[in-house]
Order: sequence, then structure tokens, then C-alpha cells
Amino acid sequence: MIDQATVQKIIDSAQILDVVQDFVSLKKRGVNYLGNCPFHNEKTPSFTVSPAKGIYKCFGCGKAGNSVNFIMEHEQLTYPEALKFLAKKYHILVEEKQETPKDLEEKEVRESLLVISTFAQKYFTNILFNDNEGITIGLSYFKERGFSIETIKAFELGYCPDKRDAFTQYALKNSYKLEYLTLTGLSVSGENYKFDRFAARVMFPIHNVGGRVIAFGGRILTNDKKTAKYLNSPESEIYHKSNILYGIFQAKRAITKHDKCFMVEGYTDVISMYQAGIENVVASSGTSLTVNQIRLVKRFTNNLTILYDGDAAGIKASLRGIDLVLEEGMNVKVVLLPEGEDPDSFSKQMNSNEFNLFIAQNETDFITFKTRLLYTDVQKDPVKRANLIIDIVRSISVIPDSIVRSVYIKECSQIMQVSEEILYSEISKILGKRFDDLRKKEYYAQQNTNTYTSAFTEKQNFQTEISICEDLEKEITGLLLLYGNEILFTARDNHFSGYELEPDQYVTVAIYITDSIFEEIEDLEFGNELYRSILNMCFLLLEEGKPIDLKALSHHGNIEIARFASELLVDGYTLSKLWERGDYVINTDQITLKKAVPKKILEYKEKKVDAILKGIIEQLKETSEVDKQNQLLQSFQSLKLLQMQIAKNLGQRTVLK
Ligand code: CTP
Ligand code: MN
Repeated sequence: MIDQATVQKIIDSAQILDVVQDFVSLKKRGVNYLGNCPFHNEKTPSFTVSPAKGIYKCFGCGKAGNSVNFIMEHEQLTYPEALKFLAKKYHILVEEKQETPKDLEEKEVRESLLVISTFAQKYFTNILFNDNEGITIGLSYFKERGFSIETIKAFELGYCPDKRDAFTQYALKNSYKLEYLTLTGLSVSGENYKFDRFAARVMFPIHNVGGRVIAFGGRILTNDKKTAKYLNSPESEIYHKSNILYGIFQAKRAITKHDKCFMVEGYTDVISMYQAGIENVVASSGTSLTVNQIRLVKRFTNNLTILYDGDAAGIKASLRGIDLVLEEGMNVKVVLLPEGEDPDSFSKQMNSNEFNLFIAQNETDFITFKTRLLYTDVQKDPVKRANLIIDIVRSISVIPDSIVRSVYIKECSQIMQVSEEILYSEISKILGKRFDDLRKKEYYAQQNTNTYTSAFTEKQNFQTEISICEDLEKEITGLLLLYGNEILFTARDNHFSGYELEPDQYVTVAIYITDSIFEEIEDLEFGNELYRSILNMCFLLLEEGKPIDLKALSHHGNIEIARFASELLVDGYTLSKLWERGDYVINTDQITLKKAVPKKILEYKEKKVDAILKGIIEQLKETSEVDKQNQLLQSFQSLKLLQMQIAKNLGQRTVLK
């Protein structure tokens, strides 16, 4: 744990420009700097760094934050790791806080298990390359499977000799404790016996995200049906099977680079695809996916493509698990391999270009895949068909993004030949029920214990905060689309606009709105996806020097955007009634805009910061991790500052009025 004073020193030293420029080449553009985003592929730069605010933001992919966030994201580190990374860059001595004996003891066990695992991996690899038995049996097996020396080294494969306890004895001789050898599962020991778990197997070490060995899978070399083909390490302090994906360490950079992750079933599938040049691949190791595994992928990309062997029974069994992935808001696609092929065998038949081509041609989004797969079975049976519709709708309903949901609804309505309206109404039933269940649960909790009461009302408050924010987001988006091209400030307004404009310069409503929302960190972004995507779109239009064209937007390909724009078009005036609430009647009169737009923005910021602060307090109550707490407190402090500033500005505005 790093003490607070040092944390502050690191944060103060790590100037955003300096930190980012180690990784991205930037060009000055006004007060900001612009470059190609390191987090997604782009040709025209939309990655902005603001030295004044100490933040970066990409208008293409939305990634944003301060120096520490940048390092966390770019180097895939945790918060404390990123701080240490920066401390090193700025030669700041990190003094770790005194740890309790219990902390130390736990850390020591974990560390010992990690050290032993690495020791074992080195032993197995050494045997594979340098020992007679290792070479003739282990290495020749891998060669027979087509693995190159380079691949074997990248995955640190090995061989455990066919002698009862060769490894255990070797480890004991090197002063490793039997207790730890047993905890990692490398040795199996009892009162008067000890032997190697993995004797006579080729070894596949399992690495954590950081690349340390945490467990092993060992494969027998025969096709003997009586013994399990693979033996795996047991769960331990360092290995929680459901939290890890095989290959994630080797794949993570490629996953970020391609903004996509392939999911396969087995060790050898990962290795063969990697060798075929497709490095962004991980395996669930034969079990169904867990939420933690999905979140692990989500750290690197939102796009997951699952490769299925061409056997229909297996696929149908695994379909239900995928709803979990959808629920995490990931884009899931599916590729079905030809009958009898798995990724291992299939990738050996072609080069990476051909493989990529096959994937591109056969990739189907998950919902469509599922619908097509199951629909053929039930087409003729109305009852089964109705059940399938409900099943598919349930899958769609877990998708958090309403825009994505609407795309799927369209697609499924076509495949299953039901109207979109019916699908929508089924979804709203499901969503409504889910909401009711939640409320009921909270209600009973409240009835049963009084301690729940305050948490309940606080949550309610938090919910209202968010919906107030959303109302304001809607109003601001409305202003943006209706009056975006109007001139808001000219040089004559310099004394109160906050801009320093030359006599021939001006700021439009759209520029003002995008500037104000994006000038702060990511947190102030609109929470509602529709309004957020409109705002981002307008920003990009402005960057290209194009005006905002409400009419064109009303024909936008995204139906929700089109719907919102059309409503504004035909109903601009009635909608603007919404904004009369209290202070201003909006019309194109520039004087009115001059007051209304900045005020709306300030109101929004006030409510938003309020909501985020409440959210942080909630999170603080829930976490016991000190590092996480510190990180939360850090955000809390800077948001408090921002809140004071906003309050001050709002005060001035009121006086101005
Ligand atoms: N698996 C396991 N224990 C088994 C069988 C399978 O842990 N007895 C896990 C392994 O992670 C394996 C994955 O499930 O990689 C997929 O199983 P399978 O397709 O049978 O193995 P492959 O990886 O294809 O192995 P191989 O090609 O060597 O037969
Ligand atoms: Mn296989």
C-alpha cells in the first residue's frame, strides 16, 4: 500500500502531456493536443489531451481520464501498479505502508505459491528441451502436433517425467516446502507418501494477466480413454479457475490492438491459432463462461467472437451461458466451424489470411445465430415457435444498450416473421417484471430489518438523481440539435462568456455545448446512450467543420436518433415547453440562448456531479480494499472541488440574471 502523501506527489509529477507523449505522438491544436488514439484503430486523430485539465479523451472510442488512468489503460495495470509505474518514471521513492502480520502472512503464502509455480514451470520446460526423456517423449509429441519451438517457448510448455516423484524430490532438494508444493497441487502428499500430480504428462502452464504462472494443465500422451486426458491444478490461493482464461497473458496486446477477442474451448486451440497468426485468442478451458471471465475480456475489448466446433448438440447446450456475456454489454459473435473441425485442426489447414477470411465470411451476431439455429427446428410447431420467441426476447432483453437491442429486434422480427411491435411489447414485459422483482426485494428487505431502510431510501434518491440528469441531458441534446448552428458568443461577450475571442471569431451553441461537456473528465458524459451518441456525433461533425443538420438526422440509420430528431423537427415548439419550467422560454432569440444554454449546462453539471458523488459514497461503503478506497477518495476530492466551482458559477449566473 502506498501512503497518501506519496500518491499525491506522484499525481502532481505526472503531467498528462508528458505521460501520454511516451506512447502517442501529439500535435498542438488550440489549447489542446491531438493524436491517434492508442486504444482503438483510427485514421483521423480523435484522441485529445488537455494539459490544462490534466486529462485525455478520445472522441472515437470514448476512453478518457487522467495520467494514472492512462497508464492503467495503456499498460493494463491496476491503480496501485500504475502509481508505481509513474513513480518509477519520475524517480519518486514509493514507501509502502506498514503491513499487519496477517497481511504479511497471506502475502507470503501467495508469493510462495507463485514462486513455486514458476520454479516448476522452469523445471518442466528444462526437462522438455534438455532431458532425454523430455526430448524423445514430450518435445516430439508437441512437434507431432505441429507446435514450433517459438510457440512452445511463448506458452512456456514443458514435460513432467514419468517417474513417480522426480519433480517433488527436486523441489524439496531446492528447499521448497512440501506444504506449499501440496497447496499448489504440484505434489500430492499424505502421511507417508508424496508424488508428482503430473507425472508423465506434457505441461501447459496457466498464466495470470500479468504473466505469472498460477496453475497447470497436464495432458497424457496416449489416447487411453480410461485416464482423464487433462489433469488440472486444484483451486488455490493463487488459482481461481472461474476468474482466469487460458492464454490471456499472451493474447492481451493483440486483443487491444484488434479490439476483438476470440474464445475457444481448449489449450491446443489457443496455441494453434496463436501459431497461425491469430494471437487474440483465449480459452474457457472446457467449462461454461463465468461473469468474471467475461469481465476479464472486457478489460481489453467489447467484442467477443466465439468459435464453435461444428457439433450442434454442444452448441445448443452452451447457448444459455451466452446471455451472461450479453448482459455485460459485450458484442457477441459466433463462428461455426465445418463439421468435425475444431480451431486447432482447422487453423492448421490454412494461413492466417485465409483463416481471417473464413471468420469474416462466417461471423454471425449471436442473437441472429441463435434465432436461425433454433428457428429451423420449431418453424412448423406454433407452440414451440411461441416459446422460442420468448426465449430469444429474453436474450435480447438482457442487453443493456437500447440501441443495440433495437437492431436485434429488427433482425429477429425478420427471421421469425413476427412484428417488431410484438417483440417490443414482450421485452417491456420482461423488463417491467425485472424491475418489479427488484422493488419487491428491496421492499421486503426494508420490512424485515430496519438497517436496510436508509440504504433503500438512499438508493431511491440516487435513482431520482440519475433521472433528473437524464431530463437535463435530453434538454441539452434538444438545444444542441435545434439551435446548434446559432451563434452564441462573439468577442463582445468576452467579459462573461469565458472565451477570449478575436473580433471576427464566434462560438456557436453546438461548440459551447460540446466544449462544456467534454472539458471535464469522462464522468460528466451523458449517461443516456442515445443522448451521448448524438453528442459524440455532433462533436465529430464540428471537428470536420460541418453544420448540424436536423433534417438529415431525422433520416439517420439509427432509428432512435432518427426518432428523436424527427420529434424535434415536427414538434420543436411543444418540446421546448419542457424547457419553460421556471426560468426561460426558449426561442431562437440569441439573448435568450445566451442565458439559457450556459445555465442548462451548469444545472446539468451540478446534478451530475451530485449523482456521481453519491455513487462514490455507495461504492465506498461496499469496498474494503484500501487501494480501491483511496482511488475513490481521490475522485471524491476532485469532484468536490468541481462542485464548489459549479456552485460559484451558478451563483454568479443568478446575480447576472
Ligand atoms: N479439459 C479438461 N479435462 C479433460 C478434458 C478437457 O480440463 N479431461 C479442458 C481442457 O482445458 C481442454 C478443454 O477442456 O483444453 C477442451 O477439451 P478437448 O477439446 O477435449 O481438448 P483439446 O484442447 O482439444 O485437447 P487435444 O486437442 O489435445 O485433444
Ligand atoms: Mn483438440
